[in-house]
Amino acid sequence: MKNDNAAEKWIFIPGAGGTIAAATAKRFAKAGWSVYLASRGIAELEKTAADIRMRYNVGAKAIYFDALDTASHEELYNGLPVKPDGVVLAFGMLGDQKKAESDFSHAREIVETNFLGAVSILEVAARDMENRRKGFIVGISSVAGDRGRLSNYIYGSAKAGVSAYLSGVRHRLFRAGVHVVTVKPGFVATKMTEGMDLPEKLTATPDDVADAIFKAVRKRKNTVYVKKIWRLIMLIIIHLPEFVFKRTKL
Ligand SMILES: NC(=O)c1ccc[n+]([C@@H]2O[C@H](COP(=O)([O-])OP(=O)(O)OC[C@H]3O[C@@H](n4cnc5c(N)ncnc54)[C@H](OP(=O)(O)O)[C@@H]3O)[C@@H](O)[C@H]2O)c1
Repeated sequence: MKNDNAAEKWIFIPGAGGTIAAATAKRFAKAGWSVYLASRGIAELEKTAADIRMRYNVGAKAIYFDALDTASHEELYNGLPVKPDGVVLAFGMLGDQKKAESDFSHAREIVETNFLGAVSILEVAARDMENRRKGFIVGISSVAGDRGRLSNYIYGSAKAGVSAYLSGVRHRLFRAGVHVVTVKPGFVATKMTEGMDLPEKLTATPDDVADAIFKAVRKRKNTVYVKKIWRLIMLIIIHLPEFVFKRTKL
């Protein structure tokens, strides 16, 4: 992102209706990037796009996108009027772990949204950026993917898949000069966590995540924990021996 001509650069954000996505879109727009806002709630996206155009004097376009409709992804991406120089994968579905344990269709939706949807749209972007030998991809994964645990292992296992996918596609695209960032936000107060009692010291704001993403792209970071403390927490959790871990209620 070291160009002097950022106004002509577009960033594509699948899942743009989300709280972190909206903050990220504004962070990039503030720096002169034009934004493709892609998600299901097209009416809301149109409003956000108008707000971004007015506030930041950049391009902003709302596009209907459903992560689960994988058959549409290639055509949608290839139909973008200007190919994006950045992609921020921002959709996600936390779902309800308890419900998923008794209703496989819910478990399936969580896995397909978070993992299959991500692989589907990012493979299209990866192919394009590899051919053009330029661009960057940011994937929002989760610390929940670092170790499966009883309270959210359906979501966590899908995010583990996302993290492994991002690691692999980073390895592949390195050769083409295309950078891939994995972002692990920790707790963030958003639509997804509404009503949850999040510990203040461990909770980032959507703007913190947006800033971390922007900085990570500039500095070509590989994996970012938005609040540094999460790297340490997860290091401990990952290394707890299984006979101890399975007795915890994490
Ligand atoms: N908040 C946290 O504590 C936290 C922690 C770690 C990781 N994350 C990750 O951060 C990312 C952003 O989440 P957020 O916290 O900003 O939550 P959010 O506000 O709920 O945003 C998630 C977005 O994903 C969209 N989405 C879900 N299913 C979709 C589908 N099939 N097609 C298209 N879009 C779909 C939702 O769209 P609709 O509005 O149409 O449902 C929503 O706008 C997610 O990947 C999430 O897993 C969040």
